[in-house]
Amino acid sequence: MLIRNATLPDGRQGVDLLVRDGRIAALQPGLAAPEGATVVDAGGWLLSPPFVDAHFHMDATLSYGLPRVNASGTLLEGIALWGELKPQLTQEALVERALQYCDWAVAQGLLAIRSHVDVCDPRLLAVEALLEVRRRVAPYLELQLVAFPQDGVLRSPGALDQLKRALDLGVDVVGGIPHFERTMDEGAQSVRLLCELAAERALPVDMHCDESDDPLSRHIETLAFHSQRLGLQGRVTGSHLTSMHSMDNYYVSKLLPLMREAGVHAVANPLINITLQGRHDSYPKRRGMTRVPELLAAGINVGFGHDCVLDPWYSLGSGDMLEVAAMGLHVAQMTSQQGMRQCFDAVTVNNARILGLDGYGLEVGCRADFVLLQARSPAEAIRLRAPRLLVVRGGHVLARAPERQVALQLPGRPPSVDFTLAR
Ligand code: FE2
Repeated sequence: MLIRNATLPDGRQGVDLLVRDGRIAALQPGLAAPEGATVVDAGGWLLSPPFVDAHFHMDATLSYGLPRVNASGTLLEGIALWGELKPQLTQEALVERALQYCDWAVAQGLLAIRSHVDVCDPRLLAVEALLEVRRRVAPYLELQLVAFPQDGVLRSPGALDQLKRALDLGVDVVGGIPHFERTMDEGAQSVRLLCELAAERALPVDMHCDESDDPLSRHIETLAFHSQRLGLQGRVTGSHLTSMHSMDNYYVSKLLPLMREAGVHAVANPLINITLQGRHDSYPKRRGMTRVPELLAAGINVGFGHDCVLDPWYSLGSGDMLEVAAMGLHVAQMTSQQGMRQCFDAVTVNNARILGLDGYGLEVGCRADFVLLQARSPAEAIRLRAPRLLVVRGGHVLARAPERQVALQLPGRPPSVDFTLAR
């Protein structure tokens, strides 16, 4: 396959991309098409590495309204609602909903997802369902699973054993939720034991950490400490980190270098953070999202996750990582040229680093995974939630969509065609 005349996220224009044996064999202007190659005219549109979601809950997705909707809209009612739904779940329904979501993802150029899976169910029904989904989607989507003790690894009886069983079954990452344990002290103990478990098994860690508006929720400090102590640099992620929004500035000035030293990745979930945080405030209401520009400026890798789509916590969402980037951009006020580009990176390359994806990127030798967006630049892709014209994985086309445009016929004006209106 030869892709002709693409624009790349770094601004290079008129670039051709040659695929051979599922890899990018050449990337430069003016490449000749080998005999028999499929030639695709990119028409100058933006060719990007695929979207990656660093934080999702595939066991809960598309369950909106089951058994009822979240009336208060709070995180805690969402957790209670999920608890009501859990006994009613069947493996078939879990698999069906997850597969449907994966179809949505692929159609939008989202080809790798890290999903948490709740292990606080002695049957491990969701774990078995998502392991089955991981196996079935493997030819077209990389699904990474995190053993997530939703009700607290110490607070929920049997959760630690179930978490270990989930890892034995092949779940990829150790999860946690220290701010949901009974006390700060138990939260800190949970971080320690889960990091030690990950070190023992040579697995990555990804914890829901400080998903709270409490400025004194400081489990990220403990997570950074144990990452550094156990030599887990680059393998540990703190997800949400919303308490950081409310922390004292002096304390944050000490915390960020510790996170940097420990090589901890950070994940913000803009759609969910702006929806769930600040719920106990009157006015002014806090935004609650973690300090994205400051984390980036401190040299910490920051990704954005979708977190939820149509589930007990969030009544919207569609698997569109450009919507996630747009919300992150607004909430963090990252409106400069550099800021908008950083938000695009937060749903592509930064998340790929968090997942540790092999051969990801638009470079010679990388896997031939990419998405063609009907936009001229990353900022325009975010602004327009650009149509995904072509989604390719390993050189195989997974999805195609026609270019969108609107033909205007305005009185007193010559007819015209505009793609930026066709959203
Ligand atoms: Fe989450």
